[in-house]
Amino acid sequence: MHEHHHTTAPDAVAFWEDHYGQSERVWSGKVNKVLADTVADLPAGKSLDFGCGEGADTIWLANKGWQATGVDISATAVERARTAAKEQGLSEKEANFIAEDLSEWHSDERFDLVTLSFFQAPFEIPRAEIMQKAASLVAPGGHLLAVSHAAAPSWVASEQMAQHRFPTPDSELESLDLDSSGWTILRAEIVEREVSDPDGNPATLEDTIVFVQRRN
Ligand SMILES: C[S@@+](CC[C@H](N)C(=O)[O-])C[C@H]1O[C@@H](n2cnc3c(N)ncnc32)[C@H](O)[C@@H]1O
Repeated sequence: MHEHHHTTAPDAVAFWEDHYGQSERVWSGKVNKVLADTVADLPAGKSLDFGCGEGADTIWLANKGWQATGVDISATAVERARTAAKEQGLSEKEANFIAEDLSEWHSDERFDLVTLSFFQAPFEIPRAEIMQKAASLVAPGGHLLAVSHAAAPSWVASEQMAQHRFPTPDSELESLDLDSSGWTILRAEIVEREVSDPDGNPATLEDTIVFVQRRN
């Protein structure tokens, strides 16, 4: 892993606290379908969710028998995730949530699955550095799954999202900077998803999906 010493912009905490503070629940509470489909065939082990938000993916994994950890910079989101896990009868060992900035957080543990679901922001974040950290925490034989928005939704004017970066499969692999002898690339592609736009009309979203496995 490269040694860079950026930290996240100091107002990142404020941005995400403000984001989560605007409503009682920001995301759907449902698991990311790509994640659910992708890990369905993997044996449960230890999982780690980078930017877990309100915890839907981590809680879904815990309910599937994974010893699941989620990390997010927003204490408000983490608190919601903890409450949701408790409401589902999950112990802290089954679903563990940590409120930390991933550009500073470290762990000596290794995980069978590390996920990043829409780890994106409307401002510059040290994404490559954080993705490399995610990869460094994958155990031998373990997997990393990164799912991100590949483009602005069709119903949003692109100038409204000018501050957003939309990763491509190639840019994700470049950010990860994997040692090719140590990893197998299982998927690196853009996939379309059918959704309804805010007016209820059919629309599509594009996700960039990168799924890799550490060999040793
Ligand atoms: C677009 S949301 C996605 C949330 C969730 N994974 C999902 O799919 O619904 C991005 C999340 O990353 C978190 N985040 C952004 N920068 C972070 C950082 N440096 N360390 C930890 N979490 C961060 C935000 O608080 C936010 O919850």
